[in-house]
Amino acid sequence: MESPLILLKDIDTPNLTSIDVYEKLGGYQSLKKAFQHQPEEIVEMVKASGLRGRGGAGFPTGLKWSFLAKDVFPRYLCCNADESEPGTCKDRELLMKNPHMLIEGMILCSYACRINTAYNYLRGEFWELADVFDKAVEEAYARGYLGKNIMGSGFDLEMHSHLGAGAYICGEESALLTSLEGCRGEPRLKPPFPAVEGLYSKPTVVNNVETLCAVPFIFNNGPEAYSAIGTEKSKGTKLVSVSGHVNKPGNYEVPMGTPTRDIIDKWAGGMRNGNKLKAFIPGGSSVPMLPADKVDVPYDYESLMEAGSMLGSGALIVMDETVNVVEETLRLTYFYMHESCGKCTPCREGTRWMHQILSQILTKQGQPNQVDLLNDICDNMAFKCFCPLGDAAVGPVASSIQYFREDYEALIESMKTADSVG
Ligand code: NAI
Repeated sequence: MESPLILLKDIDTPNLTSIDVYEKLGGYQSLKKAFQHQPEEIVEMVKASGLRGRGGAGFPTGLKWSFLAKDVFPRYLCCNADESEPGTCKDRELLMKNPHMLIEGMILCSYACRINTAYNYLRGEFWELADVFDKAVEEAYARGYLGKNIMGSGFDLEMHSHLGAGAYICGEESALLTSLEGCRGEPRLKPPFPAVEGLYSKPTVVNNVETLCAVPFIFNNGPEAYSAIGTEKSKGTKLVSVSGHVNKPGNYEVPMGTPTRDIIDKWAGGMRNGNKLKAFIPGGSSVPMLPADKVDVPYDYESLMEAGSMLGSGALIVMDETVNVVEETLRLTYFYMHESCGKCTPCREGTRWMHQILSQILTKQGQPNQVDLLNDICDNMAFKCFCPLGDAAVGPVASSIQYFREDYEALIESMKTADSVG
């Protein structure tokens, strides 16, 4: 499928992890040019490109950079490579195959924000990718792209990687920073946002891998080249991790605004066995699922929001007609129950309670009032938890009831029938 590739353009080049290969493809050329600009000009360029955070929230990247507390130093950059959202595997591919693109993006961001220390926080299970990243960092130091007085510019930057311990909550930026400081990974109250008080209470930029990887293109080709792709408010391309009942699951780069149906049919090879689509989760397990009749929704922040869901982390989970939505929801709820950090009561208790009820319904021990009870628990969790993990846990449950209540009722009904036969 034709697409204006930015992030995956060179991804299948042999030995792309080697700095020689990356440089031959034009890698690191942005730096010399960047150092001829004032840092603030680069921030303005990123603002003009319309780039928005690809971790899930879609916050404007240039604006985030410009929010750093004025005249407070040191400042830090933390790349969020804690990719853990069920269904999401796009950052993994970039880290595995093109670590230098991320390093180049991190250098540009650090220069633009006057940062001299940058960290890459990787999820614990990414230990092999941390090795790939560390080797690339070593090469970048050896070529003079990192360290003191980079390319004679007077700009210094030290870069380190840090492996988490495999906790989903550490992808939440404040928990990530707490973990990086060596403490138990639990979220902090926001505000203050990391831009004001982040790592070691200093101004900190936290950006996702995909976000930072887009920066060299913006710098090399100009913000207009990036903003020419996509829709009015959702600019550029998006990596979509397509999983589930499609013929060709994988990571695809699509222009923002591509109809979701095209991503499934044209990029991901259509539905498995020619089955009918039943439901899809457009942006990772934290966002509401949608029924098949919404599959023409353009894949961008605004359209997905209007359709009742979100673009989130860009993980498109496709479910065909063979899926029992209650079973799928139970699996996701197990994930949130397991990953809840336990700090706040609505999330700790709510995820466990929802899991218990869903298990009862699925094993045909449910009661007719339990569907309403699940909705009630959702109401009491949404926006009442300490951090977005609790809200995320509500997404699959509330939306599955909204669109597929009949799946729940069929299971409860079958229990009544079994009882009366017994
Ligand atoms: P958020 O909307 O609270 O913040 C987004 C970003 O903008 C943050 O970096 C925040 O510090 C910054 N920000 C917002 N207002 C600001 C202000 N006034 N001043 C300075 N900075 C400001 O969203 P959050 O909690 O960071 O992310 C939620 C999303 O994460 C969900 O939508 C979900 O899709 C996604 N997610 C992604 C995962 C993954 O593996 N990629 C895992 C779990 C969730």
